[in-house]
Amino acid sequence: MNFEEIYLKRRSNRFLSNESLPKDTIDKLVNAGEHAPVAKGKYDDILLYIIEKEKLEALRKIIINEFNKDITFNCGCLMLILHKGQNKDLTNQDAGCILENICLEAASLNIGSVYVYSVAQLIKHSEKSKELLKVDPSFDIIAGVCLGYKTSEEVREVTHKIKTIY
Ligand SMILES: Cc1cc2nc3c(=O)[nH]c(=O)nc-3n(C[C@H](O)[C@H](O)[C@H](O)COP(=O)(O)O)c2cc1C
Repeated sequence: MNFEEIYLKRRSNRFLSNESLPKDTIDKLVNAGEHAPVAKGKYDDILLYIIEKEKLEALRKIIINEFNKDITFNCGCLMLILHKGQNKDLTNQDAGCILENICLEAASLNIGSVYVYSVAQLIKHSEKSKELLKVDPSFDIIAGVCLGYKTSEEVREVTHKIKTIY
């Protein structure tokens, strides 16, 4: 696939299988995330937390219990960006760059993805979730991405148009 085909293929797919992704797929996704630009090159301030299998199922139970809905879309892998930087504008932008690279790599591998702010927010405000994940309190939970094999090709109707000025 050329780059245009990859970015056109990347759409948020919310119909995912909870089957785990193979290690080499996870490695490719991580590699894509690691090659994203981050402010001042401070990669050391960032943690990419990969949640799978029993831990993911336990987290999903907490989320469904606290939110009454599976906002992880039954995914087989959840990746969270944790950041210890103090400048929230920059930590948010770092997360966006990393997660977009991961979503594009997922599209190239035909893996479904959804960028999720909601899941990160829920975890951040859920003592049970933080306890399960043993989140280091010096890191803020910024955002995440739900990943998994697609069980449907259905995506929401969205108009990808941004007003431009010259
Ligand atoms: C910063 C950001 C936060 C998002 N948070 C959520 C979220 O919490 N839940 C969700 O279902 N989708 C979330 N999305 C996905 C967007 O809704 C989606 O990308 C947008 O509607 C465009 O659709 P597309 O991804 O299919 O092109 C988020 C996307 C971004 C960039």
